[in-house]
Amino acid sequence: MRIDKFLANMGFGTRKEVKKLLKTGTVRLNDETVKDAKVHIDVNRDSVIVNGEVIEYKEFIYLMMNKPQGVISATEDSKDETVVDLLQLEDARYEPFPVGRLDKDTEGFVLLTNNGKLAHELLSPKKHVPKTYYARIQGVVTEEDVAKFKIGVTLDDGYETKPADLVILKSGEISEIELTITEGKFHQVKRMFIAVDKKVTYLKRLSIGPLKLDPTLELGEYRELTDEEIELLVNREQ
Ligand code: URA
Repeated sequence: MRIDKFLANMGFGTRKEVKKLLKTGTVRLNDETVKDAKVHIDVNRDSVIVNGEVIEYKEFIYLMMNKPQGVISATEDSKDETVVDLLQLEDARYEPFPVGRLDKDTEGFVLLTNNGKLAHELLSPKKHVPKTYYARIQGVVTEEDVAKFKIGVTLDDGYETKPADLVILKSGEISEIELTITEGKFHQVKRMFIAVDKKVTYLKRLSIGPLKLDPTLELGEYRELTDEEIELLVNREQ
């Protein structure tokens, strides 16, 4: 791969900007200064150092974030902070984007990646990727609701939801539940509870497909997926 393409892929700007960077003499290839944008490198063997920083080649990045309330699941927003704003520059450089959306007031697991193909698959309604949520509900959640969710409920726009797995953790004036759905309609969990005359007062996503939110991540924190987690995600059962 040409060194200018490598540096552009690694987030050092456009090919034109990278050319300028090379001219400054701050890029070293195997301990020698390289100024020629056309030089070819072996991304697995050669060592590229920019301003003293070793640049490891990575095509894709996969991040697990514990999204706090008040943050938007988007790459940019005119008024609110986004999940991408929470990233360190060294990760943002790969231009990851959130796979699907959580509402502004929903917390929990957001997956960010720059692997468009995987993101597309995870979002495809045909793939039925399960997502599990924890919620606090105003109102007494009953076994009748469990049965209704199992068959599917009718949302306010007439949409019939696919079968969903509702587990009651605590039933009372304020109930606590876990709900697994395999689709991602707008405000789906909140609207499913409205369909049974109840209100979600707190919502947190716990898992996406085979991956569970790392409980050690504080709100607003994130980490890269491990190789095992990437493997699970890519080779998940269809
Ligand atoms: N369902 C909702 O209602 N909100 C979310 O953020 C995610 C699922």
